[in-house]
Amino acid sequence: MAAAVKDTVSSILDKFHGKAEDAPREPSTQEFNELKEKFEKAGQGQVFAFLEELKPAEKTQLFHQLSNFDPTRINELADKALNPPKAAAEEKQTTLEPLPEKATASIIDSNPEELEKYYKEGLKFVSENKVAVVLMAGGQGTRLGSSAPKGCFDIGLPSHKSLFQIQAERIAKVQLLAQKEYGKEKAVIPWYVMTSGPTRKPTEEFFEQHNYFGLEKSNVVIFEQGVLPCISNDGKILMESKSKVAVAPDGNGGIYQALLTSGVRKDMRDRGIQHIHAYCVDNCLVKVADPVFIGFAASKDVDIATKVVRKRNASESVGLILLKNGKPDVVEYSEIDKETAEAKDPKQPDVLKFRAANIVNHYYSFRFFESIETWSHKLPHHVARKKIPHVNTETGETVKPEKPNGVKLEQFVFDVFPMTPLDKFASIEVKREDEFSPLKNAKGTGEDDPDTSKRDIMQQGQRWIEKAGGVVVSEGEATGVEVSPLISYAGEGLEFLKGRQIKAPAVIEKEAEQ
Ligand code: UD1
Repeated sequence: MAAAVKDTVSSILDKFHGKAEDAPREPSTQEFNELKEKFEKAGQGQVFAFLEELKPAEKTQLFHQLSNFDPTRINELADKALNPPKAAAEEKQTTLEPLPEKATASIIDSNPEELEKYYKEGLKFVSENKVAVVLMAGGQGTRLGSSAPKGCFDIGLPSHKSLFQIQAERIAKVQLLAQKEYGKEKAVIPWYVMTSGPTRKPTEEFFEQHNYFGLEKSNVVIFEQGVLPCISNDGKILMESKSKVAVAPDGNGGIYQALLTSGVRKDMRDRGIQHIHAYCVDNCLVKVADPVFIGFAASKDVDIATKVVRKRNASESVGLILLKNGKPDVVEYSEIDKETAEAKDPKQPDVLKFRAANIVNHYYSFRFFESIETWSHKLPHHVARKKIPHVNTETGETVKPEKPNGVKLEQFVFDVFPMTPLDKFASIEVKREDEFSPLKNAKGTGEDDPDTSKRDIMQQGQRWIEKAGGVVVSEGEATGVEVSPLISYAGEGLEFLKGRQIKAPAVIEKEAEQ
């Protein structure tokens, strides 16, 4: 029995690591005709417009791609997206309120004993191999102006570590801290990295090239989220080429379906995972597998917890975590009116009423993941109007549109919040300077760009060193110290720097070095 389970796990891992890929099977004529009929019946027969010209391998490719889609469901989604129910928002008066106090906590206001208690509890779960991490890295970083996956990005630290490496080293460090604290020989935090069609291969290659940043390959699982066809403004599935549908990743909310289809949830179950930390790739300060967060959420026995930071100002481009029509939810910055964004807290008139900025750091109980099938079909699809290059199925011409000619459909990871009862939902405010510095924009933008990411890591390192009694001296404009996550996860373990002088900019990679 044990051997059978092991076999299943290793075959899943082989699949994850791309070993078990067979050449696509050629469909029978009957199979092909059935599929064709299904699409024609749904009014989407144009996807077969070039059938006569296709080589057998291209025909097989088209068959397999189309087999993943249900044209009737796509029509429903397209219809909802292109013809949203009129004035639905006005019909139903939306009420927005901050989350009630009982669902919120704050690292900033908590007493140190309480935080220590959460930390120890979270670390204990790590030492028992009950904690996993899911990284959402399927986005394409178009705003950053780089075609490589964002996680490969070098933000210009003295060490030139990529975002992936920083995150991997934080995982390695939490494993070590848990081993040490609870006297275990080995603690493992499996890291599930969600990629998409465009990011999977380069991500896999990057991890391979860097030897999984010192983590065990068997504990790093790279999987792929789904895609949805791109739809023209009149509801037709667009073709990227004569044998290929134009598709786009289904948004970071695609995570839930992908956990099922990729076998990740099963792998978690087989490993006995109970607590999951999920986060976005672009935040260089992310506290991956944060024991305090895990301990906080587990002690509240919630299904979902989320970290927030205080919104910088009324116009910052972040989603807000709040109560919408009495349910936990996120309202994106594009959806909120000026008056609501600028409203002040009646109890503290110097702060914003809605200030809980979403930093996409979520805790999930594994129990919640066990119920994905019961709610995932209810997640809405959001519409992004885009310029989508395609082949005109009547003329065969390739079209590169100058204005938006269609839509991409995306799910959002936080759309599960309203489906979660308030007593199973919690939110914790954390310090921005310690936990949130996203990489969104190209160098030189001055906000949420590679330079601000680098600055925030270097300043944090300097704060940690000064707190530990070290002295940082800066020559000229250079400031900050990069502290390797392998040396310190959150400022701990730096006593060896007490009384020492460090010239900025510097990097602390080894205890003995400085
Ligand atoms: C996101 C949040 C926003 C929050 C902000 C903080 C969503 C929908 N919005 O906005 O509320 O305030 O971050 O930084 O989460 N991704 C995938 N697959 C996809 C698309 C995206 O894995 O198909 C991943 C990206 O790789 C990235 C993350 O999701 O790690 C966020 O995507 P991004 O498009 O950058 O979201 P924002 O608009 O910045």
